[in-house]
Amino acid sequence: MRQRASPGKRSASHLSNMPTQTATAGAPSTVATASNYQEYVNPRWVTLLNLLGMNVEYERCFGCELFTKDGRRILDFLSGYCVHNIGHNHPYVIRALKDEMDTCGPAMLQSHVPEIAGELARRLCHLAGGGLEKVYFGSSGSEGVEAAIKFARATTGRAGILCAKSSFHGLTAGALSLMNDAFWREGFGPLLADTQAVPFADISAVETAITSEPYAALVLEPLQAEGGIRVPSREYLQQAQELCRRTGTLFVVDEVQTGMFRTGTFLAAHQFGLRPDIVVLAKALSGGLMPVSAVLITDKVYNAVYSSLKRAIVHTSTSSENSLSMRAGLATLDVLENEDLGAPYILAKLFAPGCAHRWQALKWSRKSAAWAC
Ligand SMILES: Cc1ncc(COP(=O)(O)O)c(C=O)c1O
Repeated sequence: MRQRASPGKRSASHLSNMPTQTATAGAPSTVATASNYQEYVNPRWVTLLNLLGMNVEYERCFGCELFTKDGRRILDFLSGYCVHNIGHNHPYVIRALKDEMDTCGPAMLQSHVPEIAGELARRLCHLAGGGLEKVYFGSSGSEGVEAAIKFARATTGRAGILCAKSSFHGLTAGALSLMNDAFWREGFGPLLADTQAVPFADISAVETAITSEPYAALVLEPLQAEGGIRVPSREYLQQAQELCRRTGTLFVVDEVQTGMFRTGTFLAAHQFGLRPDIVVLAKALSGGLMPVSAVLITDKVYNAVYSSLKRAIVHTSTSSENSLSMRAGLATLDVLENEDLGAPYILAKLFAPGCAHRWQALKWSRKSAAWAC
């Protein structure tokens, strides 16, 4: 992930009281004392961190830097599992959240129209393009994948879900059913029936499966992240999408990790010229502060799921559309756009030899990612 925002500009005021000693190669001083977490949450996680010498007490986190209680500064290469595309504790997002709280407005009222969710949905659809015109909001990537499974079933009237081996889609029962790694699955079965995993980046495997029985959806990460940053060819993804179209299978792209400009464009799907029926976003949409996921869907999918007044809330969740998560999403988009965190990719494309649409791309790049040179 590129961190282009100037740390000096952004965190100067926050860093004035910060220790500046950079981490040295020596073993970190770890937390050894017992804690409520150890007693009441997950003692084995504490033991594991202790064994790895990673149980460090962090005092403050800014940008990509973590400051420990014992005065060290550590560069964060984990990024909270790819949550911090704009860095830790971005002051703009913090300000936006504080302002939102100060309004004392409807936060989880459940009986009103949360326009703040409408605003975030409008911006996400605009950035995604490609006929994605409605958004369902949840709180985690897994929850987004669960929604995608249900939406695909409701739209097609089919049960089966085709997916790729070595993928990661989340650890709730439905999402886990799309992962073949025994480590994650063991002890939690039986999971969803009717799922099949085929080797990633192997189009003939997709073709054989998808033409031999009907599936509601093909669910893919456009590039496999947890599976080892495996980038497939453009042809593979486009042919997979084409096979979906031919067989009436929904093409679902899990961009929980690759979305939000992480690969340069708003969606990685844009780099492959894809038009998915469903896109799942999460992680970095939160600004690293408020859990949120977004499932972008076509009107066709929306109408199949929320098909009548009776079904107006047929798939929802109590904390869906809560105002702090929505505000975090809006503020995160502001930061990504204002700090041009997608810009290097745009510039690289613009000035690449043979770029035929330079000026259109320049014009559209801030408004929509539906461009390609
Ligand atoms: C591609 C992908 N999808 C879904 C998930 C699940 O997201 P969450 O942990 O927010 O449930 C992850 C988490 O790492 C992911 O990488």
